[in-house]
Amino acid sequence: MKNKILITGGSGFIGTNFVKLLYKNYPNTEIFNLDKFDFEISKNNHRDILAQKFLTNIKQNSKHKLSPDNRYHEINGSILDEELLDKLFREYKFDQVINFAAQSHVDNSIKSPNIFTINNVIGTQNLLNQCLKNETSLFIQISTDEVYGSLKAEDTSTNEESTLQPNNPYSASKAAADCIVRSYYQTYQLPCIITRSSNNFGPYQYPEKLIPVVISNALKNQTIPIYGDGLNIRDWVFVEDNCKAIDFIRQNGKIGEVYNIPGHSEITNIQMSTEILKILNKATSLIKYVEDRKGHDFRYSMDGRKLKKLGFEIQSNFSKNLKDTVNWYLNNPNWLSTKETSTRVNVRSK
Ligand SMILES: NC(=O)c1ccc[n+]([C@@H]2O[C@H](COP(=O)([O-])OP(=O)(O)OC[C@H]3O[C@@H](n4cnc5c(N)ncnc54)[C@H](O)[C@@H]3O)[C@@H](O)[C@H]2O)c1
Repeated sequence: MKNKILITGGSGFIGTNFVKLLYKNYPNTEIFNLDKFDFEISKNNHRDILAQKFLTNIKQNSKHKLSPDNRYHEINGSILDEELLDKLFREYKFDQVINFAAQSHVDNSIKSPNIFTINNVIGTQNLLNQCLKNETSLFIQISTDEVYGSLKAEDTSTNEESTLQPNNPYSASKAAADCIVRSYYQTYQLPCIITRSSNNFGPYQYPEKLIPVVISNALKNQTIPIYGDGLNIRDWVFVEDNCKAIDFIRQNGKIGEVYNIPGHSEITNIQMSTEILKILNKATSLIKYVEDRKGHDFRYSMDGRKLKKLGFEIQSNFSKNLKDTVNWYLNNPNWLSTKETSTRVNVRSK
């Protein structure tokens, strides 16, 4: 019998990369991607898997697509839809659930915080309730370094025991969801693991985030808005490395634990933008400093020793991965010109 894994948000940036990793590496796994498609363009992310002959499959309709080999299901729906979740969990009896689905843009959370709490916290809890009811053998929550809050330049990196001190409505919703996950493990012994990664970069990132915005504006010779003095520090992890780490934790992680996934590549926002401009052979004069983001965290930095002890360490070439990422966008220009759909909070300030 095939192992059945539900991936929520499997057409988002990280979810897309993770679905592709699972599909490529695990022929005996049946993947269910439940996504509400905040971006129209992401409906095509798994066209390669759904492929040619999918019209012959019974499940082929606008809400539920199935790949010709019956290994990939794409379901258009929300983790806030309890009726749909109930139906899916009852019908498919998932072995594992990995929750990538979230409203993920900090700027949007500052403008419209409530939807972040509802989507990211209640949505997670809906999934946990179903896992409990259906005795799912593993639930993985995909969380973020932002839950630890801001560090000073001289501070040591946060580890999994560090206090959660989120500073914006997005990170607060992620921290709250982490606490709910923890409570389901402690109270009901639901088998849960939480992963917290640094900022991801790579293919399929929606065009509202820093890297695609820098590439898009640079190609059009438009100014590149950078918050404040541009000296805020982020640690960057290549999305494919993060996905490999999540997959490793899925198979080797200890139930009830939290694992940090750092990229070991801390740079300022201005350095990141300058690097991209250099790759594109564009002038740094395109950079324009704009009013700082409210409550802008100065630095994130995580200690990765717990994951290393478990047997996984990211050793990748940041410059090469950044070049590959820029090239991916150059080869997929529709990703730079696409518009958000109405289901997403419509603010684009970065
Ligand atoms: N991108 C990063 O740098 C980063 C870093 C650490 C953690 N994370 C976390 O990883 C996860 C994925 O992030 P991402 O960057 O891929 O985000 P993303 O915004 O690119 O993708 C999120 C996906 O979830 C879907 N979604 C949102 N709400 C949903 C709902 N109610 N039901 C079903 N689908 C829903 C969206 O349609 C989208 O496809 C998030 O939980 C985020 O908090 C992201």
